[in-house]
Amino acid sequence: MSEGGTPAALSARIGDYQQRTEQVLDRYLTLTDPGTPRLLQAMRYSVLGGGKRLRPILVYCAGEALGAPLAVLDAPAAAVELIHAYSLIHDDLPAMDDDDLRRGQPTCHKAFDEGTAILAGDALQALAFAVLAEDTSPGISPQSRLLSLRQLAHGIGTAGMAGGQAIDLAAVGRQLSLTELEQMHRRKTGALITTSVLLGAYAADIPPGAQLAALQRYGDELGLAFQIQDDILDVTGDVAAIGKQPGADAARAKPTYPSLLGLTQSRALAVAARDRAIANLSGLGLHTDLLEGLAHFVVDRSH
Ligand code: IPE
Ligand code: IPE
Ligand code: MG
Ligand code: MG
Ligand code: MG
Repeated sequence: MSEGGTPAALSARIGDYQQRTEQVLDRYLTLTDPGTPRLLQAMRYSVLGGGKRLRPILVYCAGEALGAPLAVLDAPAAAVELIHAYSLIHDDLPAMDDDDLRRGQPTCHKAFDEGTAILAGDALQALAFAVLAEDTSPGISPQSRLLSLRQLAHGIGTAGMAGGQAIDLAAVGRQLSLTELEQMHRRKTGALITTSVLLGAYAADIPPGAQLAALQRYGDELGLAFQIQDDILDVTGDVAAIGKQPGADAARAKPTYPSLLGLTQSRALAVAARDRAIANLSGLGLHTDLLEGLAHFVVDRSH
């Protein structure tokens, strides 16, 4: 392993990306509107000061591996995290998972109220598209901006996150087949993770082709591994570590990997997805230490 790829070096770089993400998000959320202080407060509450920031980190890692300057990656990094925060607010609502705890603090609808939480999610989604569309960093081509906007729309629409969440809701209390469960996970969580990798690549202006396709497959498999581990942590996790109420999936008869296959097999499938993700990095001809390290983190994490 090269020196830049030691575990200490990797976690230092991840820490730098996390810090940068906090600053960029804070900047985009410094909005003033005397008419809607409560809405803006709920948006900041749900986005700032918490979360692993995996999706922005993926934008930075994929983009930098392909030679994009950091400044060009700030807007896409912020956009995917704003979308993620919106998805968490809505996911926690009483009409969905009905959760009270998120990132170690009351969920948005508990800290504020349901109406405000719905609107905060809506506004964060709109802000994400505005951030991408209005980005004026030098070096972003109109073509790359359009590809990113299109990918973000696809990643979170019916074929992606919203569709996956609809399958999740429809499956409560029913047993899904393994294929159905995998598809649900790829959509509800995997699609935004793939989108994060692709937005990093588009910001680097790489042409369609084998490299982009391999990065997309990396994101797809990473996303599946990520949601399987999320399911596992709902069973094995500690409330202080995960910042959510463990056991919530079982309490609500949610379709999950552990409920279908048990923990051991779930773990094996997460590791297999991780290894498929990593296998896609080897032929890229790029420095992918960090993307590989992130794949290990995704299945080894306890939070
Ligand atoms: C939780 O995502 C929701 C899923 C899609 C599984 P994260 O585990 O990335 O949540 P934060 O951002 O770190 O809080
Ligand atoms: C969430 O899946 C997927 C989203 C699109 C937000 P979960 O419902 O398992 O996420 P957590 O466990 O509440 O974070
Ligand atoms: Mg859910
Ligand atoms: Mg949930
Ligand atoms: Mg979960």
